[in-house]
Amino acid sequence: MDWGLKNRMQSIFKADGKTVMLAVDHGYFLGPVSRLEDPRKTVEPLIPYADSLMLTRGVLRNCIDAKYNVPIVLRVSGGNSIIGKDLANEGITVSFEDAIRLNVSGVALSIYVGTDYEHQTLINLSKLVDEGQKYGIPVLAVTAVGKELEKRDARYLSLSCRIAAELGAHTVKTYYCEDFEKVVESCPVPVVIAGGPKLKNEFDALKMAHAAIRAGAKGVDMGRNIWQSRWPVAMISAIRAIVHDNASVKKASDLFITLQSKKK
Ligand code: 5RP
Repeated sequence: MDWGLKNRMQSIFKADGKTVMLAVDHGYFLGPVSRLEDPRKTVEPLIPYADSLMLTRGVLRNCIDAKYNVPIVLRVSGGNSIIGKDLANEGITVSFEDAIRLNVSGVALSIYVGTDYEHQTLINLSKLVDEGQKYGIPVLAVTAVGKELEKRDARYLSLSCRIAAELGAHTVKTYYCEDFEKVVESCPVPVVIAGGPKLKNEFDALKMAHAAIRAGAKGVDMGRNIWQSRWPVAMISAIRAIVHDNASVKKASDLFITLQSKKK
């Protein structure tokens, strides 16, 4: 790996090789999703706890002060909406020139394996990797499932993650599932998990993060289960304890409860 690419990877993955990425890119197809109506208000209090922010250039430029020294992983795919025909029909929405202008530490796109747009999104990935290699910018591939959440099993996700890595993705973001270690073991690049839609309560999300790390995930790139919580700072702090301090579910839950009582 060339120095620039390595340096950017190390700004996202901390000295322990793990990361807590905060995903706030949802508006690119969901619009003003609940609790992210005003991105600045939601994101600013969480920045001190995030190892990187995953977001679009529009939110970065308009809602995040340039004074923050947090690594940026820029969402560079899209072109569809939740009410449109097919969420999988994504193109590349940002030039590398603009990503470089924004001083990003990485770029992210979604791939949709097994859909009508499989080929298109995998070619998007390959082109981004070519550009990323040229400029030393790592590419994170998201194994997206659109509205078909039931697709999230080890067989499908292993296939998707492995293809992303084979095409050159430097990191893969996927969903947690039963037998998750199989997904991680067959993917030769670091795997981080998305949280998915908000779970019943915060403890379920902590359990999921803990199980993913135990199975070999290198971190999380989580959104709704953090900022849709009534206690987002408590939640991201508890997730950090799991990812970076190897905290048990009990220890992380106790930390969450302590911070929650302080209204964080
Ligand atoms: C959408 C994304 C989101 O960033 C991702 O789903 C993470 O957020 P959440 O934890 O809310 O699922 O990549 O395609």
